[in-house]
Amino acid sequence: MTAEAIATIESGAPSAPKHVAIIMDGNGRWAAKNGVSRSKGHRKGADAVREAIEGAINCGVSYLTLYAFSSENWNRPPEEVSDLMGLLRMYLKKEVRTLSKEGVKLRVIGQRNALSRDIKDMIETAEDRTKNNSRLTLVIALSYGSRDEIVNAVKTVAQSVLTGEQSLDTIDEMSVERSLFTHGIPDPDLIIRTSGEQRLSNFLLWQAAYAEFLFTPVLWPDFTSQTFAEAIEDYLSRDRRFGARP
Ligand code: IPE
Ligand code: IPE
Ligand code: MG
Repeated sequence: MTAEAIATIESGAPSAPKHVAIIMDGNGRWAAKNGVSRSKGHRKGADAVREAIEGAINCGVSYLTLYAFSSENWNRPPEEVSDLMGLLRMYLKKEVRTLSKEGVKLRVIGQRNALSRDIKDMIETAEDRTKNNSRLTLVIALSYGSRDEIVNAVKTVAQSVLTGEQSLDTIDEMSVERSLFTHGIPDPDLIIRTSGEQRLSNFLLWQAAYAEFLFTPVLWPDFTSQTFAEAIEDYLSRDRRFGARP
């Protein structure tokens, strides 16, 4: 158990969450509800990212992870995938300066090889440009699938045994953690999913072991910093036990 988990149990109430992760869902349904194209729904969804960042900064959260595109989302129609990649390009081009000014460090997790060369380059530049920032770490899960991440980690660990770097007996939770895309990032304290769906959709399966969950009917494009603040308030009323108390 982490020192933080022990402190939480001892104090009886959780302190502000260090890491909040959001499954940004409902752009398509927002578009249908408002009689506009899915593409417009995704554009409005991209604007809501700013609200989430502001919410996180206002609430003193240190890590904000946003699920932007899953490994399964590659199976959507090519026009939609291309729309989403276009939005991502725009976001990376437009927002990095603002993020930098605000003291936000950007980190992208997921299968980068699936992304096009120019997007990979933009991500590398953005990560490099913001690497010394420390107010908030913004983690974007892109072309991300948790099972894929775990399979990768298993391969890395197996390789280290084959090369003699470690023996079977020294494999522990830390060796797996070190091999995940999220290495060095604390586990999420709170996972929010918008749009009323109540599932993880292959998101942070390992990391969510003791996360609190909040499912809201708000569709992602309608998400505001106020929605974020309300989620934090709900989280603060929870009793996190980490299995240590009845
Ligand atoms: C979330 O909105 C955006 C992505 C998954 C990329 P959706 O596109 O899944 O919207 P719904 O679920 O169809 O409403
Ligand atoms: C999960 O949403 C992925 C993202 C929000 C990026 P989906 O809309 O793809 O998930 P399902 O298909 O409803 O499970
Ligand atoms: Mg969806």
